[in-house]
Amino acid sequence: MARILITGMSGAGKSTLLAELARRDVTTVDTDYGGYTIENRLWDVPKMDALLASHDNLVVSGTVENQGAFYDRFGAVVLLSAPVDVLLDRVAARTNNTYGRTAEDRNDIRRYTAEVEPLLRRGTTHEFDGRRPVAALADEVEALMGATPRPRIRPFGPADEDAVIALWHAAGLLRPWNDPRADIARKLTVQRGLFVVAEAGDGAIVGAVMAGFDGHRGWMNYLATARTVRGQGVGRALVAHVERELAALGCPKVNLQVRTDNEAAVGFYRHLGFAVDEVVSMGKRLISDEAPDGSG
Ligand SMILES: CC(C)(COP(=O)(O)OP(=O)(O)OC[C@H]1O[C@@H](n2cnc3c(N)ncnc32)[C@H](O)[C@@H]1OP(=O)(O)O)[C@@H](O)C(=O)NCCC(=O)NCCS
Repeated sequence: MARILITGMSGAGKSTLLAELARRDVTTVDTDYGGYTIENRLWDVPKMDALLASHDNLVVSGTVENQGAFYDRFGAVVLLSAPVDVLLDRVAARTNNTYGRTAEDRNDIRRYTAEVEPLLRRGTTHEFDGRRPVAALADEVEALMGATPRPRIRPFGPADEDAVIALWHAAGLLRPWNDPRADIARKLTVQRGLFVVAEAGDGAIVGAVMAGFDGHRGWMNYLATARTVRGQGVGRALVAHVERELAALGCPKVNLQVRTDNEAAVGFYRHLGFAVDEVVSMGKRLISDEAPDGSG
């Protein structure tokens, strides 16, 4: 996949870089224009979904609050950055846009850069210095378009079974009372498309999650990513994928269960907008998966 997102502050050079890429016949979309951005701060989700679904080779630019939810559909996310004084000089010199001329705008840009740029940096795969010549930057973006893709999210297939079980085992998710092979076999009979894996460029399975919609709530189970890719956005991409699929089914809320001592997972889910429901989680086993000798 060769979809690239160029993000960064006003004045970093996104538009200039996009213009150079367009001149080289690369398909580009500046989401500041064309109705892709709502209220100056959010991408219009259906419109961006449609854009990204219809182009495999595309360079998009934009800086919005909900861009992280789209990262799984980009092969690379590039932060274009420059020192704040360079940004201020550039916005002041622009002829096509008056934003940045007043003292108030300039203070906003300083504050916004200090607050927002570090957040952007965390989710990006590359950072380019926006002071470099535009031709050199465009060369790098073109190189990225042919580069190794991010893990691709796709439905589980039977050939993935051993790899997924090994992933769950390594992630500490297996319990004696849950036979993962039986759990997979059962899942393949109900909404099998909601059982997805993340496949790296070399074919390795580096993430998985099993989800479903019971007509009232959506559920997510068995979310895991490989240690080798943790912190790279694969977990976020899997959750975002499930949320999109569930929402498309009309599901109003997604639930999940985490063991209370799994503080890392609780922190991860809180970070993604999940909150603890004040309920007691109860369960009753209907089919035992444990082998009679206790080895299962
Ligand atoms: C939980 C798990 C799936 C997270 O996967 P991951 O691939 O490392 O997650 P990501 O890299 O996509 O992280 C997404 C975001 O969550 C943040 N995050 C991750 N762990 C966090 C924590 N404990 N507290 C706060 N934020 C956290 C990341 O910084 C990242 O933030 P950003 O996208 O805003 O920059 C992974 O650690 C795992 O497999 N754990 C073991 C299995 C497990 O416990 N599963 C849950 C079972 S219910």
